[in-house]
Order: sequence, then structure tokens, then C-alpha cells
Amino acid sequence: MQAQDRISAGQAVYTPFTLNVYDYVVLGFSNRFLWRCPTSKLEAMYDRNVSDDHLDVGVGTGYFLDKATWPVEQPQITLLDLNANSLEAASRRIGRYKPETFAANVFEPLPTGRKYRSVGLCYLLHCLPGAMAEKAPAVFDNVIEVTEAGGRIFGATILQGDAQRSVAAQALMNFYNRKGIFSNSSDTFAALENVLRERFEKFTTRRHGAVVIFEAQKA
Ligand SMILES: C[S@@+](CC[C@H](N)C(=O)[O-])C[C@H]1O[C@@H](n2cnc3c(N)ncnc32)[C@H](O)[C@@H]1O
Repeated sequence: MQAQDRISAGQAVYTPFTLNVYDYVVLGFSNRFLWRCPTSKLEAMYDRNVSDDHLDVGVGTGYFLDKATWPVEQPQITLLDLNANSLEAASRRIGRYKPETFAANVFEPLPTGRKYRSVGLCYLLHCLPGAMAEKAPAVFDNVIEVTEAGGRIFGATILQGDAQRSVAAQALMNFYNRKGIFSNSSDTFAALENVLRERFEKFTTRRHGAVVIFEAQKA
């Protein structure tokens, strides 16, 4: 597959139908029983990091934005995704916050025209083609450009490499990689930590099963 086709494959699975079942299948079942990272750990990550002016990249159904405890009653929320179905589903879900939306590819400079105090990248990296050492620098550099000094950049991704996985989890991950839904066959914890270390003085990582949660602060 060409690079552009592989980027497209990482978002093409998010149709209105798959988005309707995503919360049950991924957040309800796979997180707990296959990836071994209960969704409550990701909800807690959002609660620790969201600000009153938040950009979310790779928004899916908007589940975490809906459930998050925001520091103000009416946070400004901006949604950015390559897939129009995801943007539509997430903006409908959090319509009460009147989010702004951008249809854009995270591999290109982000077209928001301004900076944010927090940026979420939950379950985005494992959908993006390329080894961690190739894709993560491009993504973090684009995100850092639109983050205020002192702002939070956080998210989670599903790893392979030395990550603990059952036979069922390996089988599903292999299937997703063959289809281009995931591209994480070369994604290791060490490679992600290197990318974070090169860019942030302050960052933390936590591992739960095959998932790593990362939380960083722009200097
Ligand atoms: C697995 S979903 C994650 C949804 C949500 N953040 C969550 O954790 O439940 C990945 C999202 O990333 C989007 N995406 C995939 N490739 C992208 C790219 N190159 N640029 C921007 N968004 C992308 C998909 O369309 C999808 O909405």
C-alpha cells in the first residue's frame, strides 16, 4: 500500500455503523478483556489532563469528552479528525459544549490557527501507519505547535513488542494490522519513551496490559 492509502486505511473503518458499536466493542469489551486496560483508566487520564480550552485529535465517538470532568462548566472544545463520520458523531455527542471541528490529517501541520491548553491523542497512534520512531515524532511535533507553553499533551496507544497479550488479543491485533485498521506491529514502549524524552522535560508513562498512557507538559 502507498503511504497515503495506509493513512486512509487507519481511519476508513469509522463508518456510522462501526461508530455505533465502537463504545461497546472497543471501550466495553476489548479494553477490559483483550488489551487489559479498563476504560476507567482512560477516563481518569482525561480527568487529570483536560483544561478549559481543549483540542482532541482522533475523536472517534467522543466518549471520553462526554464523560470527562471539565474544570469549567463550558469548556472550549475543538475536534480534529480525518474522518467526517467521527467528527459528526463526536460533535453530536458533546453538542452541549458547541465544539469547533476540523477535518484534517494529523501528519500535516494542524490547521487550527491557534493554540490550546490541553491536547488529547487517545488511541490514535496505533491507527497510524509506520513504526513508532517514524510516526510519533511527526504527530508530536504537529501537536506541540498548537499547544500553549505549560499545556498538557496526553493520550494512550496499544503496543505490541514486549506488551503482554493473550492468544486472542494477538489474533485480533494481527487481523487489525492485516486490514490496516491498526499499524502497531513495530510499536514498542521503548520507542515511544524515546520520542517523548526527546521532546518533553516533564512526562509520565503508565502501562496497563498492552496499553501505554502518556502525559506530558510543553515547556
Ligand atoms: C481508535 S479511534 C479513537 C477514538 C477516541 N479517541 C477513543 O479513544 O475512543 C481513532 C480515531 O482517529 C482518527 N484518525 C485515524 N487516522 C487519522 C489521521 N491520520 N489524522 C487524524 N485522525 C485520524 C479516526 O478517524 C478515529 O476517529
